[in-house]
Amino acid sequence: MERVDPETLATLEKEYRRLKGVSSRMLMKKYLTKDVFDKLKYRVTEAAHALDVIKSGLANPDSGIGLYAPDAESYTLFADLFDPVIDQYHGGFGPSERHPGIDFGSADSLGDLNEWGDYVVSTRVRCARSIEGYPFNPLLTAEQYAELEQDVEVALDTLDGDLAGYYRPINRLSLEEQDKLLEEHLLFKQGDRFLEAAGACRFWPDGRGIFLNADNTLVVWVSEEDHLRIISMQDGGDLRQVYSRFVRAVTALGDRLPFSYSQRLGFLNFCPTNLGSAIRASVHIRLPRLGNDRRILEDTADQFHLQAKDFVFDISNRRRLGLTEIEALQEMYDGVREIIRLEKTMEKNGSRKGSAYF
Ligand code: ARG
Repeated sequence: MERVDPETLATLEKEYRRLKGVSSRMLMKKYLTKDVFDKLKYRVTEAAHALDVIKSGLANPDSGIGLYAPDAESYTLFADLFDPVIDQYHGGFGPSERHPGIDFGSADSLGDLNEWGDYVVSTRVRCARSIEGYPFNPLLTAEQYAELEQDVEVALDTLDGDLAGYYRPINRLSLEEQDKLLEEHLLFKQGDRFLEAAGACRFWPDGRGIFLNADNTLVVWVSEEDHLRIISMQDGGDLRQVYSRFVRAVTALGDRLPFSYSQRLGFLNFCPTNLGSAIRASVHIRLPRLGNDRRILEDTADQFHLQAKDFVFDISNRRRLGLTEIEALQEMYDGVREIIRLEKTMEKNGSRKGSAYF
């Protein structure tokens, strides 16, 4: 472990004093107590110090979390700060707890969420993955971005059958092509202010790109927020099919690329919200009646550890760490089924539709 240089230390001290006066509910501020700060301020991973970990939160007091790991080592070296944030975000994951390990289970335990009617507009399952041997976004050099992209492209080229497709680097797409892919919700934009402040947008758009299979149901983002985002999606509610494609793609890529993994935290990624299975399984769903009664919707979602936002609701698992892949999927499936059951009951009882519905 290196020791921090005097100039960074002085900046850290100054920023910490300033942070104390800032009004913010972010978890970084909550858990960066004086004791923790005094312990962590001297530490340096191979290439990152405490300032790199907290700078996104310092620049954005409206962050919910406010910290990122510039490399995998940060999760252990700065554990005094990451651990309580991880514990709170993932709903109870104490410092002595371990992620249960990998279990993709069987897609056959899931079904089509639209068996009772056309509620679910689209279904999506994604995970984040990082490649061992490379730091995360803010520490990648221009050469490493190019090398990483090359490694990933070679692995993507081996996908076959319904997974086969091709990789397109963003810097070789015309603006028209980019706009079209953005409109279709396939492509990502340059990072938001949270990522920007974390130093994750350097050399944009070099090294970034998108892989699509023939029917756009398998999408892989390269060097967006994470080295890889592997996404399976389609219209309608057939979660079994979406998840089965997802598992085949992640497994095939994992056979060819060494994903960063920790016994305690599972798959390691840039943001502490994307640890463990690093899976987000979600639906876009029309709930004209339940949507009118946010309390029942939110209570039910909460009961299944799901989060619901917007008017065509985006409902997804919130917990990623401390439960296996198939458990995360099952949680989303069971919760959305319960939500649809409630919507259906309200329909029968003739309750009022929300006026914002179309
Ligand atoms: N850093 C932001 C915050 O703390 C985003 C966190 C979650 N989102 C994400 N894309 N990782 O609010």
